[in-house]
Amino acid sequence: MIRKFTMGAPIETQAVVKEFAANEIGSFPFDYKVENGKFIFGFDMQKNDIVYGLGEAPRGINKRGWVYESFCSDDPFHTETKSSLYAAHNFLMLSGSKLFGIFIDFPAKIRWDIGFTTDSRTEISIDGTDFDIYIIENSSPREIVREFRSAIGKSYIPPFWAFGYQQSRWSYPDKKAVDGIIDGYDKAQIPLDCVYLDIDYMESYKDFTVDENKFSDFANYVAEKKKQGIHLIPIIDAGVKKEEGYSVYEEGRDKGYFCKTEDGSDFEGGVWPGIVGFPDFLRKDVREWFGSKYRVLTDAGIDGFWNDMNEPAIFYSTKQLNKAIEKASSLKGKNLDLSQYFELKDTFTGLSNNPLDYSSIYHTLDGKQVCHDRVHNIYGANMTKAAGEFFEKEFGKGKILMFSRASYIGAHRSSGIWFGDNHSWWSHILLNLKMLPSANMCGFLYCGADLGGFNENATRDLVLRFLALGVFTPLMRNHAALGTRDQECFRFERFEDFRDIIQVRYRLIPYLYDTFCKASENDDMIFRPLSFDYPDDRLACECETQLMLGEECMICPVYEQNVGGRYVYLPEDMTFVKLSGTRVKTEPMTKGIHYIEVALNEVPLFIKKDKKIPLCDPAMRTSQLDTSNLEYIG
Ligand code: GLC
Repeated sequence: MIRKFTMGAPIETQAVVKEFAANEIGSFPFDYKVENGKFIFGFDMQKNDIVYGLGEAPRGINKRGWVYESFCSDDPFHTETKSSLYAAHNFLMLSGSKLFGIFIDFPAKIRWDIGFTTDSRTEISIDGTDFDIYIIENSSPREIVREFRSAIGKSYIPPFWAFGYQQSRWSYPDKKAVDGIIDGYDKAQIPLDCVYLDIDYMESYKDFTVDENKFSDFANYVAEKKKQGIHLIPIIDAGVKKEEGYSVYEEGRDKGYFCKTEDGSDFEGGVWPGIVGFPDFLRKDVREWFGSKYRVLTDAGIDGFWNDMNEPAIFYSTKQLNKAIEKASSLKGKNLDLSQYFELKDTFTGLSNNPLDYSSIYHTLDGKQVCHDRVHNIYGANMTKAAGEFFEKEFGKGKILMFSRASYIGAHRSSGIWFGDNHSWWSHILLNLKMLPSANMCGFLYCGADLGGFNENATRDLVLRFLALGVFTPLMRNHAALGTRDQECFRFERFEDFRDIIQVRYRLIPYLYDTFCKASENDDMIFRPLSFDYPDDRLACECETQLMLGEECMICPVYEQNVGGRYVYLPEDMTFVKLSGTRVKTEPMTKGIHYIEVALNEVPLFIKKDKKIPLCDPAMRTSQLDTSNLEYIG
């Protein structure tokens, strides 16, 4: 059962697709108060209660013991002390002494204090008084998710080839570099389906342009790669470069499509291309306009995109930068004391994603000016919607691969997400794992992290262990930042180990794709916390390093350096399977704690006692997989 409570005049986010009659906030089942324009409510928690949800967010599967904020943030340091990442997924569930889910449909900030201030209490503070809150009740956590998901609509299903292995880097700057990657993988006999084009494929980082000097005769090149079975996936950024003579910019400016400042002039912020205009994606006409621009690339044969910098990320605004420069000039030659020096320094470091900038941006909603602060969390989702609406109209559902960095619930119907700029840190293998069930609860099924880690240098063993988790994530992409060590599998010594891991992915694709489609069709999760399946088992309920996958499996990646395995907890008797290339080793194991040995070229997996899963033969491309010829293991 879902009950909807409405207060004030909520901004339409289109997160929920089912119609619900709205109840007055007076009948809201939680204690609440309105204080300084904020709506604050909460609930008590018993010692063993678990709080799930918040999708892409820091910390554990059980969100207790920390304070989170719904605020799409461009922050590349995903440490446990952060409160938000790139998404705002306002779904939470309490399971234990009581069982209910909450979805807050509200596009500005929300603070979730989940036992941070008082360990037995969750206190939620909504930064406004115009919202819809949905309370979801059902018989189990999984049923609550299903009920919620049926209200927000079916999850996006990408094309089949998007389940292949994908290689990315910031950036493969030209054809020669891209060819080198494909060649490297082919020679090493490591499967590959996609190569990514990061910002350097464009002319001066201008969306919907391709630099002729680097990618001459682009359409023919895309076709040539397709013949090799490789999809090229270009990036599209939210900001449109301000440049006379650049048609996308001129059209946007002349038609008034960019976000404004209070005085009605275009807001100017700096991102990769320098000063940009930010399309006002909240407007339907702007979405149609921006969406139609993808045609330049789809006409060239491109069938996949990643939308980036759409929180939106703003490195600086013209206004704040000028102020900072003025301040610096006024201090030139002066003898600064420590606090003056740090104040000056902070003026510059604080330029990026500055709250003053966000609150000086205006959108036009139903003809009215709305401050960005009020709608921040649906900006990126509406960029994705612009693309998704165009793709669906032109090509039908699920023909184009699309995933985004920023997101809000609702965007799960037209795209996937990736978890942004993580690090080549061992702890980020587990962070990746923990976000999977939480993202699934919120409808995001096609997701994954930058395997091997984006920022900083990766080591061979880290990439292998990261990939061994990535074998199971719908998006299996290795991506690395500019200036970091090469991270492509074939570059490492004894690359055969990488082949062993990635071949396992291709062997599992029929199973993973089927599990994915079923989850989308049935509003279900692909990955579940163990506690969903074994609610009366304390060790299962506390498990933060293993996940249930589909109806058949449990996954348990190795996540520490210099270890030959890990401890696992089996909540029932299962078959331990080690997969490596075409090799399969199975061993029955009993309920309880076990130490499992896992070599760097092996993928560990547990299959429930009475279940089997199919494997096909590996192939170099998804298009070459023979999915009719399956072997069953378990
Ligand atoms: C952002 C993206 C990252 C990309 C980079 C350059 O940091 O999150 O994936 O490589 O921009 O486009």
